[in-house]
Amino acid sequence: MTSTTIRRLQPGEGPVFQAIRLIAMRLDESTFGSTLAEEEARPDSWFEDRVRADGVFVAEADGRVLGVVAVGPKAPAKERHKGLVYSMFVLPGGRGRGLGAALMAACLDYARDVVEIVQLVVVSTNAVAVALYEAAGFERYGFEPRALLQTDGRYTDDLHMWKRLK
Ligand SMILES: CC(C)(COP(=O)(O)OP(=O)(O)OC[C@H]1O[C@@H](n2cnc3c(N)ncnc32)[C@H](O)[C@@H]1OP(=O)(O)O)[C@@H](O)C(=O)NCCC(=O)NCCS
Repeated sequence: MTSTTIRRLQPGEGPVFQAIRLIAMRLDESTFGSTLAEEEARPDSWFEDRVRADGVFVAEADGRVLGVVAVGPKAPAKERHKGLVYSMFVLPGGRGRGLGAALMAACLDYARDVVEIVQLVVVSTNAVAVALYEAAGFERYGFEPRALLQTDGRYTDDLHMWKRLK
C-alpha cells in the first residue's frame, strides 16, 4: 500500500494550496465559510501569502495531494495568541482512514510553537468534522444560529470550538 506523508507547504507552493482548496470548494462548498466564486477570485498571491505566514499542511501519496489543513494566528494585535484552524479537507477517496486526524495532529504540533489557543468554526450539522475535532481535543464554546446563508438559499448554524495548547 502507498504510504501517505504529511508535510508543511514551503514558500513557492502557494499553487499547491490553491489547487486543493479549489477542489474542496467545488466538492464541499457548504462546509466552508466562503464561496467557490470568492475563492476563485482570490489572487494567486493570497494563497502564497497564507503558505508563508501560516502553517499549511498537506497529506500526499505518490506526489498527489489528498488533503489539506491550515492554521495561523489571528490578525489583531490583541488576538495573536489565538490561532484559527481553517481549510480542513480530505478528498472523498481518501476519507475514513485517518488522514484528517493526521493533518490535524501535524497542524496542532506546529501551532503549539506559535499560539496558545486554537479555534475553529464548523457547520453544526457536519457530524464527521465535529467528531474529528472533538477526537483532537477541541471543545464547543459557542453556537451561532443562521451563521451562513448558503448559495442554495439555506441557512446553516455554526459551532465554535477551541482547544488550549498552553
Ligand atoms: C471532515 C474530513 C476532513 C474528515 O477527514 P477523514 O480523513 O475522513 O477523517 P479521519 O479518517 O482522520 O477520521 C478522523 C475522525 O473523524 C471522525 N470520522 C471520520 N469519518 C467519520 C464518519 N464517517 N462518521 C463519523 N465520524 C467520522 C471520527 O471521529 C474519526 O476518528 P476515529 O477514526 O478515531 O473514529 C472529511 O470528511 C472532509 O474533507 N469533509 C468535507 C470537508 C469538511 O467538512 N471540512 C471541514 C470543514 S470545518
